[in-house]
Amino acid sequence: MDPQDRKTESEAAATGSATADRPVAQLEPDGSLLLTGLPLAPVPERVDPAGIVFRGAPRTQPGPPMPYSITQRKMVWADNLHELIERAKRRQWNASTDIPWAAGRNVAPDLEDALAGVLTWMLQQEYAAWYLPAKFVGQIHPAYTEAGIFLSTQVVDEARHVEAFLKRLYLNGVGLREVSPGTESSIKGLLMQEDFARASFLLHVLGEGTFTDLFHLLIEISPDDATRQIMVRSLEDEARHVAYGVGRLQTQLSGEKDPDLLGQQFVEALEGRLSFTYEVSGLPPQVQEALAILAGGGRSPAAQGRGVPRIRQFIAELNENRKRRLLQAGFSEQVAEHISQLHIRSSGGLM
Ligand SMILES: [Fe+2]
Ligand SMILES: [Fe+2]
Repeated sequence: MDPQDRKTESEAAATGSATADRPVAQLEPDGSLLLTGLPLAPVPERVDPAGIVFRGAPRTQPGPPMPYSITQRKMVWADNLHELIERAKRRQWNASTDIPWAAGRNVAPDLEDALAGVLTWMLQQEYAAWYLPAKFVGQIHPAYTEAGIFLSTQVVDEARHVEAFLKRLYLNGVGLREVSPGTESSIKGLLMQEDFARASFLLHVLGEGTFTDLFHLLIEISPDDATRQIMVRSLEDEARHVAYGVGRLQTQLSGEKDPDLLGQQFVEALEGRLSFTYEVSGLPPQVQEALAILAGGGRSPAAQGRGVPRIRQFIAELNENRKRRLLQAGFSEQVAEHISQLHIRSSGGLM
């Protein structure tokens, strides 16, 4: 290539116009380059579990067989993936420096104790949200790399939530509270899921859906500003994870002749959980009690007179929001209601 050609090509690249036979990447007006600006091969409906390269690579022979379990677009793709990837990168935060930790001092002992009970339980759920996407990332065929990129942002988000919750737990010396065996076996049941679509439904749609509502509540009832800021930041992360789960489910349901048949499979996954677990994405009684102490501002009868009704109301909001997400994803009213009811049962009852 002579220098003149090179200049012409670099000029073309700067403006985003195509060279003779190869389209170049399109830059955004501010000079940034998004994945959507690349002339990538279309996302295939399904691929063989083989090869270690992005879609569209020329090859003369088949790639080596690989233990990918996610080899269909409908299992993992969401139309909002690109937007979510960009949002995730823009909104990263630092649990060491972005939380006003000094504002978390001098909390009344009853409230600090109640908060520790809530945070210990939440911390355990964070491990589910952390380890489950981490487990599946290596099972995604590289043809669906964008999904792997997004789930990797979730892995970082959840690791940060664990870090932030641990810091708040130990900030005033209280630390972790007693672990409930039911919570652990319930989380184990989720982590042992081998089917990504079911795992994503249980985690992203049901579990993290509940968590976004819980973050909203904690923003309202946190006893201090450090905790409140943790909840504000985590809520934003969590909302992205739920948006992926709902987007993924929409993709899967839109390809089904009978979406409710798939709903039935998810119902079976929930019923399977019912046989040995009573928590994962609902709120166990001890957590509801601790939330009522935070909501009322203490343990006195007067405080409980305020706190208990607020948490009852919150549980009703949880159920409404869950059903709304199921309808939004594309389930019929009947299946959405059924899943919602099963979820309530698998959540260990209400206050
Ligand atoms: Fe989280
Ligand atoms: Fe999350």
